[in-house]
Amino acid sequence: MKLIRVENYEEMSSSAAQLVEQQILNNSHSVLGLATGSTPLGLYEQLIRGVSERNISWQHVQTLNLDEYCGLAEDHPNSYRHFMNAKLFRHIDIPLENTHIPNGKALPVEVECRRYEALIDEIGPPHLQILGMGTNGHIGFNEPGTPETSLTHCVQLETSTRNSNARFFSDRDEVPTHAITMGIQSILKSERILVLASGKKKAQAVKHFLDGRVSKDFPASFLWNHNHVTLIVDQDAYSLA
Ligand code: GLP
Repeated sequence: MKLIRVENYEEMSSSAAQLVEQQILNNSHSVLGLATGSTPLGLYEQLIRGVSERNISWQHVQTLNLDEYCGLAEDHPNSYRHFMNAKLFRHIDIPLENTHIPNGKALPVEVECRRYEALIDEIGPPHLQILGMGTNGHIGFNEPGTPETSLTHCVQLETSTRNSNARFFSDRDEVPTHAITMGIQSILKSERILVLASGKKKAQAVKHFLDGRVSKDFPASFLWNHNHVTLIVDQDAYSLA
């Protein structure tokens, strides 16, 4: 694993953007794995600027997002489809049909999970997967206890995850109880993985991750079983390591 230590959130975002843009410059038909949450927002702002300031073209790029809440329609303000459109896709020249996110409304959910995993194999796997990390070590929505062999599946969200994501909803009770997420194995199919962590609230998780002990109690630890992982971490997130 390659560790890149930077000063702060802005530096983390711009170093990540450099790696993503380099991937697109190397291969204009790149497949990128994308994440939601607040961590990649600065990266997405940089990537939007890259289109006008550095002539980066997303015309032939395909994206695969990690996860989606169950029960939220695409146009729901808290759906991850809505988040991605608003924070990135609408501001870059990517054709919307090149952007892929599980459908949180599709039923039965197991069929949607199988469709999405087949899509990962068909157009992917991603050349580069972006990941944030939950405070409990979750990646995507793979909560502690998820086996390494997991493919795209439906999960029940932990109380801690629902609590920390409640800030995006007007009422905690509105946070969905279930989500569709790429599994650990789906994520590990990617050629390269870029993990981002910023801020004091991630310090414990970063310390745990850097211990290097692989266990399903801390899903991010499975990334140690992948050969091309880069972690970009800022001072606050690294403060307990
Ligand atoms: C959510 C997402 C994850 C994300 C995590 C951390 O649970 N499903 O993909 O990594 O939140 O969020 P944040 O970046 O806001 O700390």
